[in-house]
Amino acid sequence: MHLLKMSDLNQSDIERIIQTAERFKSNSDCEKHQGFIANLFFEPSTRTKLSFEMAEKRSGYQTIDFLTESSSVQKGESLYDTVKTVESLGVSAIVIRHPKDRYYKELEESVQVPIINAGDGKGEHPSQCLLDLYTIYEEFGRFNGLNILISGDILHSRVARSNALTLQRLGANITVSGPSFWQDAELGIPYAPIDEVIHKCDVLILLRIQEERHDLKEEQRDYLTSYGLTPEREQQMKTESIIMHPAPVNRGVEIASELVECQRSRIFTQMNNGVYIRMAIIHELLQGGVTNESITKKCSI
Ligand code: CP
Repeated sequence: MHLLKMSDLNQSDIERIIQTAERFKSNSDCEKHQGFIANLFFEPSTRTKLSFEMAEKRSGYQTIDFLTESSSVQKGESLYDTVKTVESLGVSAIVIRHPKDRYYKELEESVQVPIINAGDGKGEHPSQCLLDLYTIYEEFGRFNGLNILISGDILHSRVARSNALTLQRLGANITVSGPSFWQDAELGIPYAPIDEVIHKCDVLILLRIQEERHDLKEEQRDYLTSYGLTPEREQQMKTESIIMHPAPVNRGVEIASELVECQRSRIFTQMNNGVYIRMAIIHELLQGGVTNESITKKCSI
């Protein structure tokens, strides 16, 4: 089984992965496995790459790193041949981030070891989505009925796509916000200006402006006051509401810098939870899911 997009997982798969992450977080350790996992990042990454490395090592796996700049990609080797080469070395799984939407289409039938999508272009970011779900579940204990506002560069965001569609599937009420020219009509999620809905949301997910996917640097001028989270908007949020952002954060653009670590921010909690979710994803794909009877807390999504 690969994990390429959130629709690869049904509701009970998602519940099980969250339960496993909870177990790993509370025990701070897990079964140690043997083998190798390769991390192929064809796009820059800090969180996802280091978080997968941490998760792999804590699960007992040795990590195989891959640097595009010193690899035979520079000689013109294709993604397909690169991945088949890594598979033939004997790894147990391959984590891939690539700028092309659905890069995995040419791989999914031919590669026998699990592929974990660490982000495909503007497509999806399933491990980020799962860590976001875990962070929301940890806070509220449910998804059903929550009001979730996703604000920013929706059109170019793989996080927005994975999160909006999955949270909607789990019963949350999703609204998108931000500049009208960065909305994605195909998503089918209702739009509202941030000032009309900020006071109602339980979760505000801010998105980074994806400078690498368009040439609209001018749009960053006045972005914070027009669309971002200013201290004035933060004060309109409900007492128990939380702020999330997949990061990296453009401080002073999507969010006022002083709010990044404010009391209701869960931005660094998301990063911490990312390690346990990625340990759970690896466990799910390589050990065939959770059957541990010691799990006592039922995840009631
Ligand atoms: N959230 C996220 O994907 O961050 P990186 O690009 O640093 O991996």
